[in-house]
Amino acid sequence: MLQTTLVLLKPDCVQRNLMGQVIARFEAKGLTILGMKMMQLDDALINEHYGFLADKPFFPAIVSYMKSSPIVAMAIRWANAVPTIRTMSWATNPVDALPGTIRWDFALSIDGNIMHASDSLETANEELKRFFKEWEIFDYERLDNKVL
Ligand code: CMP
Repeated sequence: MLQTTLVLLKPDCVQRNLMGQVIARFEAKGLTILGMKMMQLDDALINEHYGFLADKPFFPAIVSYMKSSPIVAMAIRWANAVPTIRTMSWATNPVDALPGTIRWDFALSIDGNIMHASDSLETANEELKRFFKEWEIFDYERLDNKVL
């Protein structure tokens, strides 16, 4: 099933000049990037996005970490994009990730784990609305899908 999901390239990805390498993996897989923008997150957006973790002891650290530099938000579409991108990213804690996955290859810590990806289709729909206006998503036809 064709799905659109949200990916955030976190401050460590931006700060360590890893954006291109992560985006290249999405492109190599053939995923369609429908939207992409750099943003400086504020308390309101972070509280909304990570509100389900508000009672966790590490919540203040997440808020301060996610504000520590701009992030890059991406809207990505593909067949089963939600589980596909979660598989490419793998476990939240990079020590639990599988070799060859984005977090195994690049992440240094559980906070600096390179990227966020929506965990279900329902969450993806909510998170996409949170980070993108309707006009920031581009529904274009790909050259490789066209009959030439
Ligand atoms: P993410 O997939 O963006 O969702 C919540 C984030 O909280 C998670 O990635 C981690 O970066 C961060 N986090 C920090 N500490 C923990 C922890 N102990 N367990 C789970 N997530 C954590």
